[in-house]
Amino acid sequence: QNLIIVDHPLVQHKLTIMRCKDTSTASFRRLLREIAHLLCYEVTRDLEVEYIDIETPVGPTRAPTLKGKKLVFASILRAGEGLLTGMLDLVPSARVAHIGLYRDPETLEAVEYYFKAPSDAADRLVIVVDPMLATANSAIAAVQKLKDRGANNIRFLCLLAAPEGVERFAAAHPDVPIFTASLDEKLNEHGYIVPGLGDAGDRMYG
Ligand code: PRP
Repeated sequence: QNLIIVDHPLVQHKLTIMRCKDTSTASFRRLLREIAHLLCYEVTRDLEVEYIDIETPVGPTRAPTLKGKKLVFASILRAGEGLLTGMLDLVPSARVAHIGLYRDPETLEAVEYYFKAPSDAADRLVIVVDPMLATANSAIAAVQKLKDRGANNIRFLCLLAAPEGVERFAAAHPDVPIFTASLDEKLNEHGYIVPGLGDAGDRMYG
């Protein structure tokens, strides 16, 4: 199964507060950053470690350290920035890609306005972050762009996913697992996730 739902009670509790329409911008931002820590923990759970020789104040030992190249976090602007901040708290040496996409309000197609990724993203695990997977147009386009640059080890991390988006994303990129805090009910006629939390970008930035 390529869909991993992070149903940890802390994640679910924080998500419920984020969904409430009266939650302030300041609280929304802080909660997204906190949830990003917990989601980051899950999405990196199976990273490989290698053992190195170190000296503790008490004596020598062999201890685990992350193996391989540093990760890339790819943030889909704007709302991806909210998850990115929390991810970087936990993995401060990660490389970062920025992918600017907005949804055309009529067609719901993803329109690209910015793309900048580390030149060697092809050799690294790339974790694409965006709070919402609605129609999946944005996520599909972002992942395709990264694949066009050679990336072949990609994971997608979001807060909320709609079943329609999961299905479309899985069809377009069957090799890319989706990590989410919630699989919501459906999309409405405007392409919003129901019950969702509104537009994450607007709730973070106004
Ligand atoms: C929202 C959201 C995702 C996208 C999800 O971004 O942050 O990027 O829509 O929808 P999709 O799965 O149907 O593509 P939006 O276009 O509102 O831009 P913003 O983050 O800058 O507000």
